[in-house]
Amino acid sequence: MTEKYYVTTPIYYINSEPHIGSAYTTVVADVVARYKRMANSDVFFLTGTDEHGQKVLGEAVSRGMDTQAYCDILAGKFRDLWKDLEMSNNGFVRTTDEYHIRTVQAFVKRMFDSGDVYKGKYEGWYCVPDETFWSKEDLKEGNCCPECGREVKWVSEENYFFRLSKYNEALIELFTQKPEFVQPDFRRNEMLKILQAGLKDLSITRTSFNWGVPMPDDPEHVIYVWVDALINYLSAIGFPHDMELFERYWPADVHLIGKEINRFHSIIWPAMLMSAGFPLPKQIFAHGWLTINGQKISKSLGNAVSPKVFIDAYGNDALRYYLLRDIQFGRDGDFSEVNLIGRINADLANDLGNLLHRTVVMIDKFNEGVVPAPGITGEHDSIIIEQAEKTFAVYRESMDQLKFTQALESIWELIRFGNKYIDLTEPWKLGKDMTQKDRLDTVLHNLASILKNVSLMIEPIMFHTAREIRRRLGLEEELDFSDLGWFPISSSPRVSHGEPIFPRIDIEKHRKVTDVVENEKIPEEEIGVSLIDIESFAKVELRVALIVEAKKVEKSKKLVRLQLDLGDLGRRQVVAGISQYYSPEELEGLKVVVVSNLKPAKLMGIDSHGMVLAAKFGEALTLLTVHRDILPGAKIS
Ligand code: ME8
Repeated sequence: MTEKYYVTTPIYYINSEPHIGSAYTTVVADVVARYKRMANSDVFFLTGTDEHGQKVLGEAVSRGMDTQAYCDILAGKFRDLWKDLEMSNNGFVRTTDEYHIRTVQAFVKRMFDSGDVYKGKYEGWYCVPDETFWSKEDLKEGNCCPECGREVKWVSEENYFFRLSKYNEALIELFTQKPEFVQPDFRRNEMLKILQAGLKDLSITRTSFNWGVPMPDDPEHVIYVWVDALINYLSAIGFPHDMELFERYWPADVHLIGKEINRFHSIIWPAMLMSAGFPLPKQIFAHGWLTINGQKISKSLGNAVSPKVFIDAYGNDALRYYLLRDIQFGRDGDFSEVNLIGRINADLANDLGNLLHRTVVMIDKFNEGVVPAPGITGEHDSIIIEQAEKTFAVYRESMDQLKFTQALESIWELIRFGNKYIDLTEPWKLGKDMTQKDRLDTVLHNLASILKNVSLMIEPIMFHTAREIRRRLGLEEELDFSDLGWFPISSSPRVSHGEPIFPRIDIEKHRKVTDVVENEKIPEEEIGVSLIDIESFAKVELRVALIVEAKKVEKSKKLVRLQLDLGDLGRRQVVAGISQYYSPEELEGLKVVVVSNLKPAKLMGIDSHGMVLAAKFGEALTLLTVHRDILPGAKIS
C-alpha cells in the first residue's frame, strides 16, 4: 500500500507580501513534499493565506479598500509568488473561502458540545500585529509585545473562552510519551516549561470588529483569528465536506512552522483537536529564523527582500541549495549573499560542475558519447562503491529527520570523492592505451553512476539541475528513489556538453542584492487595476458629506473617528485611516466624498458606516473635496 504523507506550512498573513524569511517555511515544505513523492508516497502539501482578524481589516481600511477585495488581490500575489518559486503544493487554502468558514463553525461547535466553551469577560493586553493575547507579566517595558516589541492595547470584552487549562495534564503526558511530537527537542522543552507553569483558558472570540468567522448561534462574536487559522489544516483536506479525502490524509505527518508560532501549534492546536475529538498530528517542527546581520528578516524591520530578487539573480536551484545547506534546519541562520555566492562557486560550479563536465567529456571522447557497460574492476572501485552506499543511507536517514544540511554534506562528500576517483584512476591515461579499454569502461561507468545517484538525491532540492545532469548523461529524465543505488546503468542518447551548469560568480563584480534592500510596500497603483462595466460602477453610491466632528481614535496611529452630515441620509459615523495626514481641526468643516452604501463595519470596536475617499501618491494623501459649494448629501454620478 502506498504510504500517505501530509505536510503543511503555516498559512500566511495577508497584510504583506512574503519575503525571503517567510518563504523559507514553504521552500522547506516543498523539499519535503518532493522528497516523499520521489519515494512514491501519496503526498498532500498544503499552504495558504490567513485573511481574517483586526490586522488585515486595518490594512484594507488604511488603503481605503473593501476588505474582501484587498484579500483577493493579496491572495493572488501569494499564489503568483509560489508559482515563481515553483512550489509543488497540492492545496492552497484561504480562510475567507466558504468551505473553510463552515469547517471552523463545525469545529467550534464540537468544542462547544464537549463542554469546553463558556462565556466570560476578557480583559487583557492584545498585540494586533501578532494577533496574540498577553498577560501583564509577559509584557516588555512600555507595554510592548514580548514577541515583536510593538505596543499592545488593552481590550475588555465579553468573550467565549476555551477551557485550555483542562488539557494541561494531557499535553504534558503527550510531550512525555511522544517526544517526537514537538521537534527540535529544545523547542519541546520550551513548551514543556509553559505547560509546567500552568495554562490559562483562552479567549476565542472577539466583538470589537466583524472581520472573521461568526460564532455559530451568536454571530455578534467572531472567532479568534488563530483558532480560525489553525483549522485550515482540516478544512483544506475536506473536513467535513469531503470525508474520503480527509480520512486519506489526516492526521498530518508534519506541520512545519517558525519558532514564534510554536505555542499555537504545539499547545493550543492539540488541545483544540482533543476537545473536538480528532487524532493529533504526528509532528510539529518549529524552525528558526532567517536573519540579516543577526536581525530577523521581517517586513516591520525593513530588511525584507523578495525571494524573487534572489531567484532572478542566482536561480531557484542555487537559492534552494544555499537555504537548505547553510541554514541548519531548526536553528536561526544569517542569510548572507556572500555566503550564497561562495556556495555557488565552491559546491555547485566547482565540485558538482567539474565532476559532470569531466565525466561527460571523457565519455564523449573515449566511448563515442555513450555510457559504457562496466568492464574490469580495479583499484579504488570498492571504496567508491562503499562511499556511495554509505551516502545513500546517510542521505535517507537525514532527510527523514529533516536534517537537510547533513544530507547535502554527505552528497557532497560523494561528489568530492568522485573527483578524487578521477585523479586516482587517471582515465585520460587509460584512454591512450587500447589494452586498458575494459578498465576505462568501468571507471567511466562508475562516474556516470555517481552522477546519476547524485542527481536523484538532489532532485527534491534542485530539480532543474537534477534533470539537466541526467539529460547531459543521456539518461532517462524521470527516475525515482527505486533507481537510487549502485545498479548498472545504460544510456541511450549520446551525452551532451553545454554551458557550465553553474557558472562561477565574481563576488566583486556581482550586484549585491542585499545592498538594495528596499521597503517592499506594494505600489498602490498595482492594486485593484481591473476594468469594470458601468453596472458595477452604478452599484457604488457616492455622496458629498460635511465633516461635523473629527476625533483621533485613542491608541491608534492611523484612525480618526468622523461624524458626517449626509443631508437626507442623516448623520453617520465613519472611521478613516488618515490621522497621519490631517489633524482633527483641519478636517472639521470639510466637504468630502464618501461611499455611502458600504456595509457597516467595526474598527477597533468602533462602528463605521461608509468610506471617505482620498487620493494617494507615494507619501502624499489628499481627501477628495468639492470645489463649489453644494448641500451635504448631494449624489455624485
Ligand atoms: O504566523 N525566518 O503568518 P506569518 C524564518 N498567519 N521564517 C520566517 C521569517 C524569518 N525571518 N519570517 C516569517 C503567521 N517566517 C500565521 C500562521 S498558521 C495556522 C497561522 C515564517 O505570515 C513564520 O515563522 O506571520 C511562519 O512560519 C511563516 O513565515 C508565516 O508567518
